[in-house]
Amino acid sequence: PLRFAVIGQPIAHSLSPTIHAAFARQRGIVLEYTAIEAGPEALAETLERFDGHGANITLPHKVAAFGLCASTTERARRARAVNTLTRTAEGWEGDNTDGSGLVRDLTERRRLDLRGRRVLLLGAGGAAQGVAPLLLDAGIDEMVVVNRSPERADALCSALGDPARAHSRYWDDLRGLGDFEMIVNATSAGRATGQFDIPFSLPSPRCLAVDLSYGEAAVPFLAWARAAGCVDVVDGLGMLVEQAADSFARWHGVRPDTEAVYAMLRARED
Ligand code: ATR
Repeated sequence: PLRFAVIGQPIAHSLSPTIHAAFARQRGIVLEYTAIEAGPEALAETLERFDGHGANITLPHKVAAFGLCASTTERARRARAVNTLTRTAEGWEGDNTDGSGLVRDLTERRRLDLRGRRVLLLGAGGAAQGVAPLLLDAGIDEMVVVNRSPERADALCSALGDPARAHSRYWDDLRGLGDFEMIVNATSAGRATGQFDIPFSLPSPRCLAVDLSYGEAAVPFLAWARAAGCVDVVDGLGMLVEQAADSFARWHGVRPDTEAVYAMLRARED
């Protein structure tokens, strides 16, 4: 069978093997999809040794893996990060399906209109890099990027190359930034303490709050968002299934039905 893997650390609880196996059953494709645990020091060697047809790259490797690709798609270059690798004669081709996955979950599954929103992006690592360009494409009005280390927020905004709409601010100045119609959490803040500690003044009355992670990892931010009065509160499970569908389509040339798989995972969670 065709072989695939997801590479990250930690990887034991990854849902990607389950998702790709379900997509493959739907479409009558025989494949093997495993999870490979690899730390930062082992990424290059792991990618060299893995002789499968494709791989998904997850935390904390999305930025490092971009640098190890023989070629990249345009959206991977805009993100400077990859989550989907496909074998070519020259080596790995890197793509990024995080942003398209997020936007499809929000606009198609949840029927939310992103156009015209003032957006706060918390974080500037690999996850934030993946979604920022596609949020701009989705027609948001303005994006303010705030990261604990300000240099990374500056670098993300310079790379976006849209100074009229996307700019960075300091984490310590969150209180003075006004209010937002959409707040995206792309950080792991609050995971250690269970408390997400940012001002309640940030959401506007019709605010959408999105955490790019799911399960336990998303709990602190989503609890903050509900307490702060956000109207729509969304975790990253839908994005996970949609980004996987884009990877699947790239590898197999057919699109899976994401709704059934999303419903199965959501039911398992409750
Ligand atoms: P990812 O690929 O998920 O973006 P990452 O590159 O390790 O992974 O980024 C994690 C994000 O969480 C970063 O934005 C990080 O901020 P720094 O760039 O300053 O490290 C952010 N983060 C982690 N712990 C945090 C905390 N306690 N408070 C605020 N931000 C935090």
